[in-house]
Amino acid sequence: MADNEIERKELRILANSLKERILVDQELGAPLSWLKTGKKDSVVNTFESLPIVVSKNEKTGGDDAAGGHGAMLERVRADLGDCRRCKLAGSRRNIVFGEGSPEAELVFVGEAPGGDEDLQGKPFVGRAGQLLTKIILAMGLKREDVYICNILKCRPPQNRNPLPEEIASCEPFLIRQLEALRPRVICALGSFAAHTLIQSDVPITALRGRFHDYQGIPLMPTYHPAYLLRNPGAKKQVWEDVQKIMELLGKKKAGT
Ligand code: URA
Repeated sequence: MADNEIERKELRILANSLKERILVDQELGAPLSWLKTGKKDSVVNTFESLPIVVSKNEKTGGDDAAGGHGAMLERVRADLGDCRRCKLAGSRRNIVFGEGSPEAELVFVGEAPGGDEDLQGKPFVGRAGQLLTKIILAMGLKREDVYICNILKCRPPQNRNPLPEEIASCEPFLIRQLEALRPRVICALGSFAAHTLIQSDVPITALRGRFHDYQGIPLMPTYHPAYLLRNPGAKKQVWEDVQKIMELLGKKKAGT
């Protein structure tokens, strides 16, 4: 493909994701809010200070009218369709939309499907996924209690890092997914998830361990389970991070 043809294609992708992002913002009632904020490192120290979104126990008539979390999620999935918005469509085997309870109070967001996930169409089912399942169990929860998804819905070839245009294409669907779920807390697994969701480029080592704000929802960044497989010493820090999540959810800390 000629250079200017590639540029035109990239511009088309960017224009389409911008259009989708504007539609999402309109749905959320905060048109173009992201243009005003830019990069930020929004630390939330007290949850009282959050502009709290409607929680699971405080459903509005509007939310019910929209059909509840499950129906809203299904609409997002339907709109994603057999997605061809970026070039990952050419190499993926399955779209990995996400799975878990539509009523989940806790949502884990990872980076992108790997080989096992691409094959099965499910998030976090490979080695890193098995470790994530263990972390969830250690938190006193089951996989079915939470919701698990990724920044990208398709596997990048050879598990390379997501490209900005791929994130831009996929992000509107993640935003809608999170809006449909309205969890009480989000756990961002690894730098890509944390940086994308809180629009920060601060290293994960500095972000982890404290809550940040995602659209009024407390978000805890922590290390990706794949990083833990390579650096088991970091499990202690992840355990500290997830205990803070459990405290926030009002669950008794496992082992205490
Ligand atoms: N790593 C991720 O970030 N997501 C998955 O679904 C699997 C591995």
